[in-house]
Amino acid sequence: MARILLGVSGSIAAYKSLEFVRLATAAGHAVRVVLTEGGARFIGPDSFAGLTGAPVLSGVFDEDPWNGAYPGDDTADGSHRPIGHLALAERADLMLVAPASANAIARLAHGLADDLLTTAALVAEPLILAPAMNDRMWRHAATQANVALLRGRGVVIAEPGEGRLASKGEAGQGRLAEPAELLALVEQTLSGVGIADRATALLGDGLVGRHVVVSAGGTREAIDAVRFIGNRSSGRMGVALAEAAAARGARVTLLAANVGLAASPEITRIDVESAEQLQQASEAAFATADLFISAAAVADFRPDGVADGKMKKQAGEEQRSLTLVRTPDVIAGLSAQRRPGQVLVGFAAEHGAGALDYGRDKLTRKGLDAIVVNDVSDTAIGFDSAENEVVIVLADREVPVPRGSKRAVADAILDEVAPLLG
Ligand code: CTP
Repeated sequence: MARILLGVSGSIAAYKSLEFVRLATAAGHAVRVVLTEGGARFIGPDSFAGLTGAPVLSGVFDEDPWNGAYPGDDTADGSHRPIGHLALAERADLMLVAPASANAIARLAHGLADDLLTTAALVAEPLILAPAMNDRMWRHAATQANVALLRGRGVVIAEPGEGRLASKGEAGQGRLAEPAELLALVEQTLSGVGIADRATALLGDGLVGRHVVVSAGGTREAIDAVRFIGNRSSGRMGVALAEAAAARGARVTLLAANVGLAASPEITRIDVESAEQLQQASEAAFATADLFISAAAVADFRPDGVADGKMKKQAGEEQRSLTLVRTPDVIAGLSAQRRPGQVLVGFAAEHGAGALDYGRDKLTRKGLDAIVVNDVSDTAIGFDSAENEVVIVLADREVPVPRGSKRAVADAILDEVAPLLG
């Protein structure tokens, strides 16, 4: 059970924070809510008060009838009136701002303390921000610079998701992370994964200034001008790794094989389509890489030729065969040409029993330093889902990473592999 201070700022996504409160309280956490004036225009304080079972505060000068106590605490005796914003924030095990509007992010980045939310955020630790806004506002250089500033200070950012946005007909990156994802991130942070990350981000771990290359997504092998052989990989895991490495101060190159997701502007993105293009881009990037993480699902075979234009079926044709030929094994090729000190990490999406054995076999066969194994027979994790659960197989041990957001899993992977850089 943890005491969570939830800050809600002005965004239409504020309704989702009600669901977060419901999930968090159902999981046994005690939640208090600070609502900005903007937030209160979308969801009234009574909704939060009802779900948390505690009064909601808004202004710096609001008196807290509970004297900074959380549900389940002995409520304060009233003999001492603590300064509301300090008591609530100091007693919190963690503060989450969800949704964090562009304005709230800007105020937090610059240390303003012009309302109760921003004032409390100067005291609360650790701090997680879950941005929600229009995609153009999210991509704007000012917002990205503010986010980078906050990350540099060890603030954990719950990446906004892709999809339909509130403005009619608009889609893009800017949706508030899903409430279940936020709870998973909160719990990971509390359990130490994120705290270790924040500490290393502040102190500078092995990734500061290093060149980290991450491949993501799934390759497509053309059959003709319009058809291809592809796979279900969305690229979410690879993008989460790229973001996590960038947040730790690495220079990051993302080799994106058919990835529809956006990545932060500080990440150098190279789009590729086929295994062969991925191989060329990988070899070029690997020349200066310190750490190469191959999260892309690479086709093992491609059609032996690409038909001109769009292939037509013939009258009466009931069957058609395609001849497939092997594609290059990209990561095995990099491993064969690596310089001392370069670290190579692979992924193995395996199905059902024997997953770890297959993973370990790939680790040795491809000459890798670590391989991240996940069981894709579990539909709640893996391809295109928000969460993952993996085992990191290293030469001398296996590290299970519990189910969590892909970002939390990415951080756990970096925690294991960054020290291999020496
Ligand atoms: N990989 C690669 N090039 C390929 C195939 C795979 O670089 N042509 C990389 C993947 O990015 C991943 C790792 O190798 O990091 C394992 O991928 P996987 O498809 O599981 O490996 P395969 O050798 O193709 O395994 P299988 O025998 O299961 O087909």
